[in-house]
Amino acid sequence: MGKTVTICFTNNKGGSGKSTTCSNVGAAMAQAGKRVLLVDGDMQLNLSLSFFEEEQVLEMAAGEKNLYHAIGKQDDLTDYIVSTKYENLDLIPSSTLMSSIEYELFTKWQREFILKKGLQKIKEAGTYDYILIDAPPTLGGWVMNILCASDRVVVPVEASPWGMFGLANMFEFLAQVQQIAGDLKVLGIALTKVDMRKSYFKQTMELLQEMEDIHVFSSFIRVDSAIEWSQDSSAPVVAYKKSSRSAKEYIALAEEVMTLCR
Ligand SMILES: Nc1ncnc2c1ncn2[C@@H]1O[C@H](COP(=O)(O)OP(=O)(O)OP(=O)(O)O)[C@@H](O)[C@H]1O
Ligand SMILES: [Mg+2]
Repeated sequence: MGKTVTICFTNNKGGSGKSTTCSNVGAAMAQAGKRVLLVDGDMQLNLSLSFFEEEQVLEMAAGEKNLYHAIGKQDDLTDYIVSTKYENLDLIPSSTLMSSIEYELFTKWQREFILKKGLQKIKEAGTYDYILIDAPPTLGGWVMNILCASDRVVVPVEASPWGMFGLANMFEFLAQVQQIAGDLKVLGIALTKVDMRKSYFKQTMELLQEMEDIHVFSSFIRVDSAIEWSQDSSAPVVAYKKSSRSAKEYIALAEEVMTLCR
C-alpha cells in the first residue's frame, strides 16, 4: 500500500476559508478515488458540520469518541474514526471541549507530538491516501501539534487587506515549526473568497507575487453563494452542486494539491 500523506489547513486569521477548503479538497480527492480521512481539529466543529447534520455533530461532540478525549488519553485514533455517507471519506470528529485543549496539553510529556503519535497506526496501516486536518484560527501548542503531525501545509488566505495582514508572521511561525517538524513542507497559499469585481484583487495578486519563496496555487476560489447553501445542507459544495463555479474550482485545487504531493 502507498504512503499516507497528511496535509493540514492552517492560518491564524479567522474566517480565511480553512474549513471550507479542507472539506472540499478532501471530498474532491475522495471523488477522484483517493481514500481520505478528515480530522476536525477545531472546537467550532465546522469540518464535522460539512458532512453531518447539526444534531449528529453535537452528539459526537458530547460523546467520548472525539478528538478531545483521544488527545486527553493519548489514544491511538483508529477507534475514533466515523464513516461519512460519501465513499472513501471518513472523519474524526471534534468537540467544543477543544476550547481547553491548550490546558490539557500543558502537563504532557513531548506535548507537540501527541496528535502525531495518535495518527501513527493509521498511517502505518496505509488505509488512507490522505489525512486532512482542519486547524483552528490560533497559533498555540495545539496548532503546533497539528503541524508536527503533518507532512504538508496549505494556507488558505482570504483575498482582502486584513486577510493579507499578518501573513508574514504566519510564515515565520511555520518556519519555526519546521525546525522541530523536520518533514513539514509548505505547499502554498490557496486564495479564497476572491471577488474579481473588486479592484483590491489586483493588489492582492501583486502582494502575493512579491512573496517570492511562497507558492500560490493557480486555482483560486471565488465568492460563491453555493458554498453557503452547501454548508446549510451539511454537504461539501463538490457534492452538493458539482456544476457550481466553486465546486469546479475546488476540484481543480484538489488536483493541484495531489500533484504537488506526488
Ligand atoms: N468561496 C466562498 N464563497 C462564499 N462564502 C465563503 C467562501 N469560502 C468561505 N465562505 C464563508 O466564509 C466563512 C468562513 O469560511 P471558513 O469557515 O471556511 O473559514 P475558516 O478559516 O475555517 O474560519 P475559522 O478561522 O473560524 O475556522 C464561512 O461562513 C463560509 O461559509
Ligand atoms: Mg474553520
